[in-house]
Amino acid sequence: MARKRVAILISGGGSNMEALVRDMRGDPDHPAEPVLVVSNKADAGGLERAKALGVPTCVVDHRPFGKDRAAFDAAVDQRLRDAGAEIICEAGFMRIHEAAFVEGWAGQILNIHPSLLPRHKGLHTHQKALEAGDTEHGCTVHVMTPALDDGPILGQLRIAIGPNDTPDTLATRLLPLEHQLYPAVLRRFAFGDMTPIFTV
Ligand code: GRF
Repeated sequence: MARKRVAILISGGGSNMEALVRDMRGDPDHPAEPVLVVSNKADAGGLERAKALGVPTCVVDHRPFGKDRAAFDAAVDQRLRDAGAEIICEAGFMRIHEAAFVEGWAGQILNIHPSLLPRHKGLHTHQKALEAGDTEHGCTVHVMTPALDDGPILGQLRIAIGPNDTPDTLATRLLPLEHQLYPAVLRRFAFGDMTPIFTV
């Protein structure tokens, strides 16, 4: 069976991208392969990581497009299609897509979000969890839909929030779990299995 071609969108360090690439590369029977890493920021640390892993990279700087989000999306879309991408993994990509882009990849874009969706959509999720007095927190991988941080949930991992936790301690504890969850979800998704992965 031909392996599904995966493109990964990043804006920063790319640790989730690296976890995804290593999982795909580490198993000859993995149903997916990384074909492109796209960043909107030329200085994203993840670009160096991708190059070191031998994954083709490209930069689509959002700034020249100004407020024309649709034109930026179209430029990204072209590179994804040129690469023959079949699954898009968003991993710390900090630009919000217009509906047309998401609908052009209906059901084929995954995203990881550092909260237990549907709680705490948007940014600053660790701060929001602390301010809400939540006793637990976590990360979620979901299928992207045009609505922000919405869409069918494919997996979640949870951590307890302690009395001394800060946004930084939560982020530090959560990131390794993201690196476990996202590859596990992508593997199932590439097999065509939408069964959600949850921990108790
Ligand atoms: C992660 O916390 C992820 O949940 C969020 O942005 C961060 C990306 O980190 N979407 P990295 O670039 O994968 O290291």
